[in-house]
Amino acid sequence: MKLLGFFLLLSVVFAKNILLSNDDGWAATNIRAAYRDLKEAGHNVIMVAPVAQRSGWGGRFQIPEETDKLVSNGEFDYKVKGDPAWGHEDDDMNIWYFNGTPSACVAFGLDYVIPKHFSNVTIDLVVNGPNEGINVGPMLYTLSGTMSATCLGVYRGYPAVAFSGSNSNNSFFKDSLDDDPLNPSNINAKQLVSVVDQLFEAQGVNSRVLPLGVGLNVNIPKVGYDSDYNCTSPKFVYSRLNGLDSDTSSIVYNETSGYVHVKYIYPESLTICYAGDCTLPSEALILEEYKCSTAISAFQVDYDANLVLQNQVKGLLTPLVS
Ligand SMILES: *[C@@H]1O[C@H](CO)[C@@H](O)[C@H](O)[C@H]1NC(C)=O
Ligand SMILES: *[C@@H]1O[C@H](CO)[C@@H](O)[C@H](O)[C@H]1NC(C)=O
Ligand SMILES: *[C@@H]1O[C@H](CO)[C@@H](O)[C@H](O)[C@H]1NC(C)=O
Ligand SMILES: *[C@@H]1O[C@H](CO)[C@@H](O)[C@H](O)[C@H]1NC(C)=O
Repeated sequence: MKLLGFFLLLSVVFAKNILLSNDDGWAATNIRAAYRDLKEAGHNVIMVAPVAQRSGWGGRFQIPEETDKLVSNGEFDYKVKGDPAWGHEDDDMNIWYFNGTPSACVAFGLDYVIPKHFSNVTIDLVVNGPNEGINVGPMLYTLSGTMSATCLGVYRGYPAVAFSGSNSNNSFFKDSLDDDPLNPSNINAKQLVSVVDQLFEAQGVNSRVLPLGVGLNVNIPKVGYDSDYNCTSPKFVYSRLNGLDSDTSSIVYNETSGYVHVKYIYPESLTICYAGDCTLPSEALILEEYKCSTAISAFQVDYDANLVLQNQVKGLLTPLVS
């Protein structure tokens, strides 16, 4: 009885309001496992996620053209053509879908769902993911819907964290959500709760959990059944976005077939270190080379070149600019 009271007290102390979204859609197993475990940790979770798969849409802000109905089926046909353009689970008012891009889902949560249905509660943290597939390095920072929706949270002044898992199989929660401790979605959700609760614990009496304009990017390695070496509880390694193993895309033309295909390349430009701690390993390196380790990078949305570079460029633009 005493122990139960203690746990209740703990969960009350750390009960926070979390807006949860992703880019793989509201029916994806990873986000449903995260929703379940954040709630179990005592938080008030409001989930607003795309009705369809929106991976790779970056920061595009698209809202439904037909506000009354879906013009095509949602992911896994969970909501179909003709259904309303947004709504919630019949048995859970906290789980919403929206026919928009990930960034638009976060905005719809902040500007419609929360004011209209949740007494406009103050959101303590915006969480995205865990994505199905990793998002490491500068290229995915701008390409990923998960990352861009996280940036939208940061632009709006909220602390925000992007989570990505190495389990890239797009699975429907009604087929795959279980309590198997080796299910990668369950391990990803546990990692997510560890990071979120660490932040809230560190927050103490401060009004914000992260500095203004700052977000986190968290990438989880292959775990559970996906892991070759029984990785079930990866350790957390502090990292940076840029650095070794960061890639971008190129195109190779095949003279024989006349087709083009994509080839990933590793230019030196993605290893530059103009900001932050240059001794930190890149998140790409951690996911490629480290065993059973989750990379956590802090990013800022102050994209201006630093002062040294700015002055150098200003010299190049003078007398055009003054
Ligand atoms: C909800 O709260 C935010 C500040 O937390 C405020 O800017 C916004 O106007 C409020 N919206 C409504 C509809 O009351
Ligand atoms: C991938 O997801 C599908 C759909 O949910 C599921 O049937 C299949 O077993 C999964 N495959 C793997 C390798 O996990
Ligand atoms: C992983 O764990 C299982 C069951 O505990 C064991 O049978 C297997 O040998 C382990 N594999 C490795 C690579 O350690
Ligand atoms: C180029 O296309 C040919 C013909 O389709 C194919 O046999 C070959 O493997 C391709 N080469 C590469 C490098 O993809």
